[in-house]
Amino acid sequence: MKPKVLLTHKLPAAWIDSIRDIVELIVPETDDLFERIAEVEGVFSLLSDPFRANQLEKATKLKVISNMAVGFDNIDVTWCTRHGIAVGNTPGVLTDSTADISFGLIIAASRNFHEANIDASEGKWFGWSPTGWLGMELAGKTLGIYGMGKIGQAVARRAVGFGMNVIYHNRKVVEDAQGVKYVSFSELVTQSDVLSLHCPLTEETKGVINAEIFHQMKRTAILVNTARGKVIDQVALVEALKAGTIAAAGLDVTDPEPLPMDHELFKLKNCFVVPHIGTSTHEARQKMAKIACENLLAGLAGERLPFCVNPEVYLGKR
Ligand code: DGY
Repeated sequence: MKPKVLLTHKLPAAWIDSIRDIVELIVPETDDLFERIAEVEGVFSLLSDPFRANQLEKATKLKVISNMAVGFDNIDVTWCTRHGIAVGNTPGVLTDSTADISFGLIIAASRNFHEANIDASEGKWFGWSPTGWLGMELAGKTLGIYGMGKIGQAVARRAVGFGMNVIYHNRKVVEDAQGVKYVSFSELVTQSDVLSLHCPLTEETKGVINAEIFHQMKRTAILVNTARGKVIDQVALVEALKAGTIAAAGLDVTDPEPLPMDHELFKLKNCFVVPHIGTSTHEARQKMAKIACENLLAGLAGERLPFCVNPEVYLGKR
């Protein structure tokens, strides 16, 4: 009998080709993702699917949750480890796509794309304007990176190409990062002309960019977030953007997602929001799906996942 797997959302057939003949896929037909959780040995999930302890209580056959994302804050990993469930993610293959979108947002926010586009489409483009939509040139400015993992490093490489000075703050100094300088968190926020966030969402990083921090940042600073919405205190961000405490923001992630259409952030001309499209390239998504399938199959077979976020689950196993 084929093992049953909950596929939380329909995906292009080609992306899941390697698992279709091996497992029995259960795609939810109602809004209740967890209706058939008790039957399945595996889950193929997306970052928007919450897998918390209360939703997993009935998952007595579950061996593996394979998340098609590098982030895994949607999953209660501690609970999974305690119950012997391996959790997989898809690092490495989305680095360049996410770094590209970060840089796109840096340019969009520093050059007023949002305001310029609104004005142009609303009849406020009266000709070439010597003083219109003036932004900030990137060359010679300081990019601060919070979270110097693979994506942070890829953003740093792009910034060097743009002639920027790069500083970063991370839990640990990154030994092989070239041409960049490690600084304290306080130096990072006070010295950055552009602050770009690349940390995972954890208890430590939740709300780390808050009102106090906005007041320490330069009034000309740009904030870019391609990490997770909850890393920023969003109420404080709206205030900071309205009051001119910082100059502008570019956001790929928000809290919540989707952001309600009447949200204040959409009304601000100095805030450019895109709908969590950091990994939205054909290349990245196909590779993410491939790794997610490999993690899933390994977990079902009782083997070590190629990319496992809770290797402690194997402690004591051979
Ligand atoms: C991830 O993989 O965690 C990204 O946020 C997806 O866009």
